[in-house]
Order: sequence, then structure tokens, then C-alpha cells
Amino acid sequence: MNGFFLVLDGIDGAGKSTHLAFIQQFLANERIQTLYTREPGGTELGEKLRYLLLHKDNEITPDTETLLMFAARSQHLQQLIYPALRQGKWVISDRFTDASYAYQSGGRQIPTERIATIENWVQGDFRPDMTIIFDVPVAISQERVAKARQKDRFEQEDPAFFARVRQVYLQQAAKNPHRYAVIDSNQDKQMVQNHLLHILSGCLKQWKGKQ
Ligand code: TMP
Repeated sequence: MNGFFLVLDGIDGAGKSTHLAFIQQFLANERIQTLYTREPGGTELGEKLRYLLLHKDNEITPDTETLLMFAARSQHLQQLIYPALRQGKWVISDRFTDASYAYQSGGRQIPTERIATIENWVQGDFRPDMTIIFDVPVAISQERVAKARQKDRFEQEDPAFFARVRQVYLQQAAKNPHRYAVIDSNQDKQMVQNHLLHILSGCLKQWKGKQ
């Protein structure tokens, strides 16, 4: 697949969405063909599953939650992500499988091996080319979410849940430094954008190298 698969991830309130416009502008300036998408969601079915998963009145067990995340992901991969990458596009996804490690394994405490088993079933050895983790202390993220919106089913979890989620993101990044970058998004906007620019330039070089 000649495209490039870039994932943005991190705890709720870490600032992924805030910096998306900057990424869009960078890629537009480079005249790169892009597909912007998100998880859970992206496809018609995926968006229906997203509604069920995020709606705060729904009672969902941790296993069901995990399986629904991967059901949506399977559909997303087959219907959108793989075809776009085959066409040489850059796919930029707001969240992907690291969120399942972080939230379902870290947050809900489902054994990591189970996530890895489903990951391999759904994705084989397919992994993102680069995952950018936006990182902030839990207290800051909680403040941002409380100010910004009504909390969804995940955002209502307590700080200890998010501390576990954050720890898994940082562990995943530390284990695979060649395909992860961690941005301290508790700095001012300009500093975050400078770091983003550096990461995106690296991605571009990597992508051009494999054409
Ligand atoms: P967001 O895309 O608006 O940040 O919300 C998606 C929520 O879903 C977020 O709280 C993280 C959660 N999530 C998981 O728990 N597991 C997953 O695999 C994915 C993709 C998201």
C-alpha cells in the first residue's frame, strides 16, 4: 500500500482536535491527497456503533465494548482505510488501536493479550506508519473536557481510570519509538506546532523514501 497511515491519539482532552487544522494545512501545502477519519466511526456502521459506545445511558460490559470497538475498526479498515492507502492517500485517523490498549486494557483492565489477539485477528500485521500521542497530565485534561462539553460515557470515568489510560499510551510509545511520537500538549500552541512540524516533516521523508 503506497499511502501513509497517520494516527492521532491520547487521553480525552489532550488536544488532538485543536491541532488538526495545522496538520491539514501542512498536508494541503504539500498537495498530498488525504482522507480524514475517526474511530470509533468513519463508516456508516462505525458511526452507529460509535453512538452506542459513547452514549452515556448505555450499559455495556468491558468485553462488549472491546468487541464493538474492533467490529467498527474491521469495517473501517476494509471499507475506507485499506482502499485509500492503496490509492496512495494519506489516511489521518483520530484514534486507532492504541486507544483499545489504553482504554479497554489500561482503563477497563482487560488483559493486554486479549487486545493483542483481536488486533491480530482484525488487522494481521497491519500497523500505523506513525502514531502521534498528545500527552497532558490527567488533571489538565479533565479541566479542559469539563469546560468544553457534556461528558460522554468514557469522559465520565474518574481520574484513576485516565491515569491508567495515559500510562498505557506512554508505554506503547516507549516500546516502539520508531513509529510513535509523543507531544507534550500542555505547552503553548506554537511549541506544539513546532514539534508537529518536525514530526510531519519526518513522516513526509519516510513516505517519499518508500515511493
Ligand atoms: P473521541 O474520538 O471523541 O475522543 O471519543 C472516542 C472515545 O472512545 C474516547 O473516549 C476513547 C474511546 N475509545 C476507546 O475506548 N477504545 C477505542 O478503541 C477507541 C478507538 C476509542
